[in-house]
Amino acid sequence: MNSLNAIGNTPIVRLEKIVPEDSAEVWIKLEGGNPTGSYKDRMALAVLSRALEREDLVPGDTVVEYTGGSTGTALAFVSAVLGLKFIAVFSDAFSKSKQQAMEAFGAKVLVEKSDNGTITPDLIQRMKNRAYELAKKPNTYYADQFGSPDVRDGYKPLGSEIADALSGKLDIFCAAVGTGAALMGTFDGLVESKIQSELIAFEPLQSPFLTTGKGGPHQVEGIGVGFEPPFLDRTKLKEIRAVDQNQAFKMCQRLAREEGIFCGASTGLNVTEAIKIAKELGPEKRIVTLGCDNGIKYLGSHIYI
Ligand SMILES: Cc1ncc(COP(=O)(O)O)c(C=O)c1O
Repeated sequence: MNSLNAIGNTPIVRLEKIVPEDSAEVWIKLEGGNPTGSYKDRMALAVLSRALEREDLVPGDTVVEYTGGSTGTALAFVSAVLGLKFIAVFSDAFSKSKQQAMEAFGAKVLVEKSDNGTITPDLIQRMKNRAYELAKKPNTYYADQFGSPDVRDGYKPLGSEIADALSGKLDIFCAAVGTGAALMGTFDGLVESKIQSELIAFEPLQSPFLTTGKGGPHQVEGIGVGFEPPFLDRTKLKEIRAVDQNQAFKMCQRLAREEGIFCGASTGLNVTEAIKIAKELGPEKRIVTLGCDNGIKYLGSHIYI
């Protein structure tokens, strides 16, 4: 038993106050309860433990990834427990506290400069190139959050936990996508648990790559990467919706004050649109979305001023 056993089995709660009457039920899986405060712990555990099992990686080796911080913090945490070193390619467009969290777990953090703190396709490309270069060094393993099949698999338990908690009854599962792994991996877990729910993906309206083919600058950390999310299987989706980031930020504040749920902007975005869908569907239906992470790391950012 070590701290990796604290990953998963997070609570799922029903939103009580902010969902209007005559709407469907909206449930949220509170992934901020994972050790580093984000669902990324699940994928970091799957990626690194499976790489060790395959002997693609041995204790003492260095793991490399480019990251907006949540993945990096999860990889730093799991690397620390498994005796691995971790280097993150990060940017000043993301929360400073995420950098500090990675460093707390012993990671080395390399910071790419952003244009005025905005996340742009160019910034992501520069981070990616830097990580690729580092990964060419000996005894170095590229975690590959945008490619490794272990990433999507790492979220399957999230789906089976939801299925168990709701005794199999749910109509729509929806969430915003970065890599698309959490959405699709959770859906895989639901399917394995014999749940037939519809699947809806969200993206920021300010970077509507999936719905229009053109990304743009936005401030919702972790999603809206400006290219096709590698794990997103559009054939499984009922639809994709673009959601205004400003509504997402306001929703974060409402969630904290009215429901006691302290979260980041991607969660605010998920809940904003989940409630909209709930109004469209009406009573007797059940919608589930993800509380991607804990709000503590966003204190002092544009969300909680
Ligand atoms: C806070 C946050 N929300 C949502 C996402 C999107 O998750 P995924 O990459 O699995 O689609 C991420 C991914 O980095 C994230 O950090």
